Amino acid sequence: MLSLESVTKRYGSLTALSAVSLTLRRGEFFGLLGPNGAGKSTLMSLVAGLKQPDSGRVLLEGEPLVLSRLDLRQKLGFVPQTIALYEDLSAEENLRIFGRLYGLSGARLKERIQQCLTAAQLVDRRRDLVKRFSGGMQRRLNIVAALLHEPSLLLCDEPTVGVDPQSRNAIFEFLQQLNRQGLTVVYSTHYMEEATKLCSRIGIIDHGKLLALGTLDELLTHLPSTETLRITSSGAGSGRIAGLESFGSVSVTADATVLALAPATRLSSVFAHLEEAGIPASAVQLARPDLEDLFLHLTGKSLRDA
Ligand SMILES: Nc1ncnc2c1ncn2[C@@H]1O[C@H](COP(=O)(O)OP(=O)(O)O)[C@@H](O)[C@H]1O
Ligand SMILES: [Mg+2]
Repeated sequence: MLSLESVTKRYGSLTALSAVSLTLRRGEFFGLLGPNGAGKSTLMSLVAGLKQPDSGRVLLEGEPLVLSRLDLRQKLGFVPQTIALYEDLSAEENLRIFGRLYGLSGARLKERIQQCLTAAQLVDRRRDLVKRFSGGMQRRLNIVAALLHEPSLLLCDEPTVGVDPQSRNAIFEFLQQLNRQGLTVVYSTHYMEEATKLCSRIGIIDHGKLLALGTLDELLTHLPSTETLRITSSGAGSGRIAGLESFGSVSVTADATVLALAPATRLSSVFAHLEEAGIPASAVQLARPDLEDLFLHLTGKSLRDA
């Protein structure tokens, strides 16, 4: 449905996106995961047709994306990272303006405004000014403003930044429900938990480059080990645990010894070894590697610190 072919975007001497190629599948919930400055918003605005690439192409259903084509514009909904609403107008008035931009009018517009206010749980507040809304309410209104014209593809650029946990969950459920009904979603975030929870496929982006792409399971196979044992220092005592290297690669941090298990290692044999070394089971945690580990593996830095 949407494809990027070797898309590059520069701001002066800075390359914000570097030869990014990507094909979206209809109906998927695609995540774009990367730290601040990675190029997520740049990619989103290129896909929304708000910016043009310096080289490469963005194709929507096989056609180059140009905003002058109302038929192409109508297929897309874009939720920008920065809330784009008229603060001094009511929720309803805002939706009326956005609806008209997409060519809706009359009874159809009225009906869609009602449906979108309901979906955003803002029917009771429809006549209140947006500046009186909480961050979460503004976010929800910002999302439905992009859905009035019933696009088949929704682009959401970090829609939960500055949102309280309860509203965040409401946004997740809302987007997941729309996705189940067939909406294709592209969702950018710098929270690996969000990508893990929501997305059927994830692209990892840093410094304008798409570093890895796949389902969560596919991505994690990039890591040398599938499972990690973490042994707290209080349990392990000081120093290395003799013979642990025979089960995988060992790293010792300030508060733990971490063993990345070699393929086909039997956990029972590791636990037997630890028991012999006098390490209590309570000091051992088994962890599956996550996207944070993958990001560290790909870039040498933590997603959180980036
Ligand atoms: N309009 C702009 N002019 C110059 N540099 C920009 C502009 N927009 C973004 N950048 C730079 O491009 C890089 C990517 O930014 P952005 O796409 O906003 O990343 P993200 O959304 O992942 O935080 C950053 O280094 C940012 O400072
Ligand atoms: Mg951004």
